[in-house]
Amino acid sequence: MRIENQTFDKIIFATSNQGKMDEIKMIMKDSRIPIVSLKEAGIEADIEENGRTFEENAVIKAKTIMELTGCLTLADDSGLEVDFINKEPGVYSARYMGEDTPYSVKNRSIIDRLKEAEGEERSARFVCVIAACFPDGRTVTAKGTIEGRIAYEERGTHGFGYDPILYVPEYDKTTGEMEPEFKNQISHRGKALRLMREKLEGEI
Ligand code: IMP
Repeated sequence: MRIENQTFDKIIFATSNQGKMDEIKMIMKDSRIPIVSLKEAGIEADIEENGRTFEENAVIKAKTIMELTGCLTLADDSGLEVDFINKEPGVYSARYMGEDTPYSVKNRSIIDRLKEAEGEERSARFVCVIAACFPDGRTVTAKGTIEGRIAYEERGTHGFGYDPILYVPEYDKTTGEMEPEFKNQISHRGKALRLMREKLEGEI
């Protein structure tokens, strides 16, 4: 595949998270160009996520690896936005209360901070932004969200992170109660990936 004198024999997805990578490969499986992880591309990188938005962080990650390798690179950034507390933890979702604090504690803290919130005041969403950085400097981004409300108690054992507290009224389940295949179909990351796939088809 060739565009403006650039050849794409692979796309790097800048993540070292195997769970994300499996999901990405599943969604992009019939793509004409193979998608490889950082590990598969033989790259070790510790990138500081110092952006103020999901978009900025995704672009920082994708651009850093693109510049290091000269390859078309994708990266994502995601998190939980809770409207009642000014869209916290947002881009700090992984770092909220400290990177090593168990999610049972983080989730309890969010539930406690919403003591006074009822019904729609509990609105929240998972957000995912994927950025693609091309060696010629082009940048494309795609965003996906899954809307819900903060549950009154943790529910469900699937998934990770804040999954037990994002209740999705449409399915009467938290994302932690959803089977992984089902969550992938409706998730912020799934939506952003499918949108990115469409956008890339127009760019490559
Ligand atoms: P990052 O995108 O790898 O920087 O991680 C973002 C953080 O947001 C994760 O560590 C989780 O705390 C949270 N998060 C993002 N997506 C999900 C999800 O699907 N379920 C639960 N938590 C999530």
